[in-house]
Amino acid sequence: MIDLRSDTVTQPSDGMREAMARAEVGDDVYGEDPTVNRLQERAAELMGKECALFVPSGTMANLLAFLAQTRPGDSIILSESAHPFHYENANVAMIGGLLTRTIDDPLGKVTAEQVTEKMVQIDDPHCSQTTLAAIENTTNRGGGAYYGYEEVEAIGRVCHDRGLRLHCDGARIFNAAVAGNIDACYLARPCDTICFCLSKGLGAPVGSLLCGDRETIHRARRFRKMLGGGMRQAGILAAAGLYALEHHLDDVPEDHRRAGRFRRALEEAGVRFPLPSPTNIVYVEIPDADRAVSRLAECGVRVNPPRAGWLRVVFHRDISDEMLETAIEAFKQALGK
Ligand SMILES: Cc1ncc(COP(=O)(O)O)c(C=O)c1O
Repeated sequence: MIDLRSDTVTQPSDGMREAMARAEVGDDVYGEDPTVNRLQERAAELMGKECALFVPSGTMANLLAFLAQTRPGDSIILSESAHPFHYENANVAMIGGLLTRTIDDPLGKVTAEQVTEKMVQIDDPHCSQTTLAAIENTTNRGGGAYYGYEEVEAIGRVCHDRGLRLHCDGARIFNAAVAGNIDACYLARPCDTICFCLSKGLGAPVGSLLCGDRETIHRARRFRKMLGGGMRQAGILAAAGLYALEHHLDDVPEDHRRAGRFRRALEEAGVRFPLPSPTNIVYVEIPDADRAVSRLAECGVRVNPPRAGWLRVVFHRDISDEMLETAIEAFKQALGK
């Protein structure tokens, strides 16, 4: 099977498995796992932040960022397409006690003007006060759209002018950095916190890092324990993350190149695309998406139908050029092109 459902389906590489087996470990709830500590230091360095915290998932990283920087009853600003709004089981409401003020944009991106319009900070006992805004870079439901430095900087400025914190869900921040030809730490700079995933394009089996200032990360650490995310000999997992940062980062541009080749080949065959595809995620327009999923599966290709009339195709490090060409032919066949 050629699995294009998500960039989370990758298998750990041989070198990564070896690094995991050799990892020096300790009890991380006591802060004594040297490999976790090294990963956290490396993540903080890459994002240009004081500290980082290793957490089991992107979902937990986002939730910790919200918990550590807001109080129950506050409101937060998000795109209507944001992962925490759609796919994190209402945890911001249930656990954070937060109200979401959402902005509608097909690419899942928000502008500084839209963020400003959504801020509520009036001294009126009726109104929840807005204390945080979050952006997603790159956007999952927006076809992998990315923010450039100026856009993030403008959003950071309006947030900080009004005393709001800015969080970046950078699950795929390295895809944004590659697409924008910029070091990821510049995309992180205007944000108070940023998280990124090791288990997507970087090919590690588990884990995300939440990065920010010392005090915020200290608070996040308490919430991580509260939520059951305190891990013990987690160095085995952190070793995979360190390996990914050292050896797999350079492969990210290949995923974008393959996504581009896939899109161009199918465009030439008359297939339509509802959104631009600047990074590793391609949405395909197709009237009967469920039927197309079954026909593609018969041809050995797995994809997801994220919404009516759309297929989602995601390129990742386990897709070779040969698999790409096979997938293109399977799509042509399945879509009758
Ligand atoms: C943009 C974005 N944020 C957060 C997450 C959540 O990550 P996890 O599945 O590790 O909880 C995802 C997962 O696909 C994502 O795409």
